[in-house]
This record gives sequence, structure tokens and C-alpha cells, in this order.
Amino acid sequence: MVLVSLVLQHAKPYKAWIAAVFVLQLISTIAALYLPSLNAQIIDKGISMGDSGFIWSTGMVMLVVCLVQVVTAIGGIYFGARTAMAIGRDLRREVYRKVDSLSALELGRFGTATLITRGTNDVQQVQMLVLMTLNFMVSTPIMCIGGIVMALREDAGLSWLVWVSVPLLFVIVGFLVYLLMPLFRLMQDRIDGINSVLREQIVGIRVVRAFVREPFESERYRTANENLTRVSVRVGNIFVLMFPVIMMVLHLATAAVLWFGGHRVDTGEMQIGSLTAFLQYLLQILMAVMMGVFMVMMIPRAVVCAERIQDVLSTESSQLIPDASVATPAVGLVEFRNVTFGYPGAERPVLDNVSFTAEPGKTTAIVGSTGAGKTSLINLIPRLYDPQQGEVLIDGVPVSSLTRAQVSSVVGLVSQKPYLFSGTIASNLRFGRASATDDDLWEALRVAQGEDFVRNKAKGLDDPISQGGTNVSGGQRQRLCIARALVAKPRVYLFDDSFSALDVSTDARLREALGEVTGDATVIIVAQRVSSITDADQILVVDDGVIVGRGTHEELVERNETYRQIVESQLSVQEVA
Ligand code: CTP
Ligand code: MG
Repeated sequence: MVLVSLVLQHAKPYKAWIAAVFVLQLISTIAALYLPSLNAQIIDKGISMGDSGFIWSTGMVMLVVCLVQVVTAIGGIYFGARTAMAIGRDLRREVYRKVDSLSALELGRFGTATLITRGTNDVQQVQMLVLMTLNFMVSTPIMCIGGIVMALREDAGLSWLVWVSVPLLFVIVGFLVYLLMPLFRLMQDRIDGINSVLREQIVGIRVVRAFVREPFESERYRTANENLTRVSVRVGNIFVLMFPVIMMVLHLATAAVLWFGGHRVDTGEMQIGSLTAFLQYLLQILMAVMMGVFMVMMIPRAVVCAERIQDVLSTESSQLIPDASVATPAVGLVEFRNVTFGYPGAERPVLDNVSFTAEPGKTTAIVGSTGAGKTSLINLIPRLYDPQQGEVLIDGVPVSSLTRAQVSSVVGLVSQKPYLFSGTIASNLRFGRASATDDDLWEALRVAQGEDFVRNKAKGLDDPISQGGTNVSGGQRQRLCIARALVAKPRVYLFDDSFSALDVSTDARLREALGEVTGDATVIIVAQRVSSITDADQILVVDDGVIVGRGTHEELVERNETYRQIVESQLSVQEVA
């Protein structure tokens, strides 16, 4: 049902093409059905009576009918293929757009691997079925019924052969398909399985090597691979059986027609031409039955795929994106009002009733032990997630009433896990502002302390970056991400642990340069090292999702126990060093 509605809904724009397929196939099938009877006439009237004029004229008619049949068949397949491909393209586009519109919440629920499979392989299965359906939908039933009618017209005495061979083929092929169906379902699952193992291993290859986990991982892969192989082999075995069995039925039917028909020709009940025509019709019918069954065979797999696609398409983003927008915030005052936030499925919220204000022109630092909720807090500002309670506001406007474009123009996030896209250094830096000049890029790199290493690259700004930025070091990646945020010149800068890969002196230089360019913008820094935030205007101490202290470094050292512990633990490390 899902399959039918999904396909019908997406077939609408291509009604004209589908109508063309119908008409062309109708003509082509009728022509194909006409040919054997013309052939019979040539044999019975032309050859046996030695009438060469009749042979010529009927032969010409046959040639024309044949041409018509070929041309319409080609046309039908052409439009069928175009329609199927167009529907596939539309589905892929829709899945892509939907995925693009979903929030981190829904994306997390699906998982990356399955979204990729759904957007590619699953769509392809549906597309294949549409193609098959369009190619055989009209021709198969007409061929079957028309073939039977025509065969009976040639000789009713042999009709029992039709009634025996067609059901026989149907039962045999049907039984094999019945065996195949569950295997196909299983196969799709196993492909999913192998995809996810492979994906995880390639993404995590460095870790796998570092921990010498290759034996374990290759065992995992071997299992997944073998599971798929086993199913494939079983499918293969059935297919191996299928073709000889079908051929056997066809040949038995041929032999029976010749045997019984031959006797009837002997006794004069039937003409030779009728016999050949009858044989051709029977073969046409059997082929049509076979094709029909093959088509049916593809349905279960496509149904599973359609359901998986529909699953994605019908997921509504938990975040409503407003279209009638309010004015874009121009100042950048960030305010949390009694914000409580938890990840789905978690028992406890990670942030509990958090309230604070981060003012423009000032630096707000967030410290806390690992897992305290710092990243979660930062991610609420560009609205990667929505809080369950309370509000996040910029210039007094809830971020939920801003469009995505507005949010990203106001907020510049350097996330804890820096990510770069495949392309060049320049193309990555221009993510925030496409119109930035090379000078702007160099200036951002200078502030981000990344100028030297980019200058040392063979092609400078045009040096290639591989997917995820894996061809630069962790520290370089971090600096490029900082520069990317700087190029965009947002009103609110968010640095989530962005200075951790920098040594102490580079860290200090970066913060100084940053102070110049951020000017009257709001800066929020999550830091591990207390030394990098001692001069912040305001420090928030987060512990287990709660703000347990706020103030300047001096104030907090004096009166906040948690903060003092953090400072002491780091001081002692430094002192020891
Ligand atoms: N968490 C979760 N699902 C996520 C991310 C985080 O359930 N997708 C939970 C984690 O279990 C963690 C808590 O949220 O206990 C806080 O995570 P996070 O905000 O990332 O902690 P940080 O303070 O940023 O920790 P770190 O210093 O290690 O970056
Ligand atoms: Mg974090």
C-alpha cells in the first residue's frame, strides 16, 4: 500500500509519458500478436498453393507490422525508462531535502548509515519496480489473453495444451518465487548490516589500528559478509533451478504441440501454418506469464524499500522553522531563561534550569568537568536542539522564531569536533560568507593562528582538503574552523573547547588577536584550561547540568568550591611539570 501510494503520488507529473507508454505498448503488443497469424497465412495460402504474389504482398504487410512493432516497443521502453528514472530522481531529491530539514534529534534516531541506504539503494529498488511495471503492465495481460484467443482461433482442438502448460508454468515459477521472497527481504537486511559494519570501520580506521583491533573487526566483517553470502548463494541456487525448469516447460510444450499438432495435420484437421502459429502463440503466452511472475517477484523487496523511504519522508522535524521572520538580531545579547534540556530517551535532563546572560562586547567562559553539559548548552544557541523548558533568546528574540539562515548569520559556532568539507582551504573558509575576499581569509587565518601553516602549503588557500578534513592535523583543523567562524563575522561567537589543541603561548596569542576582531560581539568560550579564561568577564561553572557558580576568576577562586578544585587540579599539574 505504501509502495502504491508513494509511486502514484510521484507519478503524477509524468502522466503524459505514462499515457505514451500505454499507447505504444498496446500497439506493439497487438502487432506482435498479429505476426504469427500472418505467417500462418503465408504458409497455408501462399506456399502450399504456390501463390508467390500472395507471399510477396503478405510478406510486405508482415514487414510493416514488424517495423511498427519494433518502433513502438522501443518508444514504450524509452518513455518507461524516462518515467522510472524521473520518479527515482524525485524520490532521492525528496529524501535529501527531508534529511536536510530534520533536526539533530531525528537524524540521531535514524542514524547515518541507514539514511544513506534509504536515499540511494532503496530508491533504486522502487525505481526498478516502476521500470518493470511500466514495461510489462500493458503488454503482459494483453499478450496472455490475446495469445490465448488467437491460439484458439488457429486451432481449438489443441487448446487443452494451453490450459495445461500455462498453469503448469505458473505453478512452478510461482513456487520458486514463493521460496525467493523471504530471501530477498533477508538480503536487504544483510546489505544494511554489511554497510553499517563497513562504514563504522572505515570511519574509525585510525582507532582500530591504534588499538590493534583489526582481528576483532575483521571477524565482525567476515560474519556480516558471510551472512550476506549465504543468502545470496541460496538465491542463486533457486535461480539456477529456475531457468532450466522454465526452459523445460517451454520445450515440453513445443514438443507436445508438434506431436499432437502433427497428427492433426496428418489427418487433415489442421494446416501446417496454423500449427506454427499456434506454437508461436503458446510460446508468447508462456513468456508473458514468466515476465509477469518476475515482476511480482520484485514487489516484496520494493515494498520494504518503499516503507523505509516513506518512514523518512513522513518524519516531521521536531523543530518548526518559521517562515514569516522577525528582524535579524543585530546586537547579539544571548540569554538563557530557565532552560531545561535532555536528550531523547535519557532519564535525566543534561541541563537543569539554566539561566544566564552573555553580553555583547564581553567574554563569557564556561568551565566544568567532562560530561557536565557544556557542549549541550552551547548547541542550544544555534538551535541544534530545542530545550524542553525555558527559552534561549538572542536580543530578546527566541531562537525558535528565527529562520535557519538568520540563526547561522548571527551565530558562529566552532564545535568541539571540528569538521571540514572536501574542497580547498578557501572553499571551506568561505562557508560562512561566500563573498569574502582572499584578504579577508588571510586576516581570519592570521587571527586564528593558522596563517603560517597555510602559507607553507604548496597551493596556499587553494590547497585541497579531504572529506572531514582528515588531511590536516587536529590542531590545524581546529584553527581552520576558528578562521571559518571569523570570516562570517557573526554577532555571537561560540568556541566549544576550540583552543585545546593549541599550546599555551599560541593560545594566548590567539585570544589576544581574537579580542581585537570580535570587538563588540558576544563571545562564549568553553575551555578546559582555566589559564585560558582567567581574564574572561564572566565565568560560569557548570556541574552536572547546573550552574553552580558565576563571576570573575578572582571571585570564583575565593568563594566557589568546584571552581577552586578545577583550578587546583590544573595548577598542580602545571607545578609538577
Ligand atoms: N549526551 C547524550 N547524547 C548526546 C550528547 C551527550 O546523552 N548526543 C549526554 C552525555 O551522556 C553527557 C551529557 O549529555 O553525560 C553532557 O554531554 P556534553 O554536553 O557533551 O558534555 P561536555 O560538558 O561538553 O563534556 P566535554 O567536556 O567532555 O566536552
Ligand atoms: Mg563538550
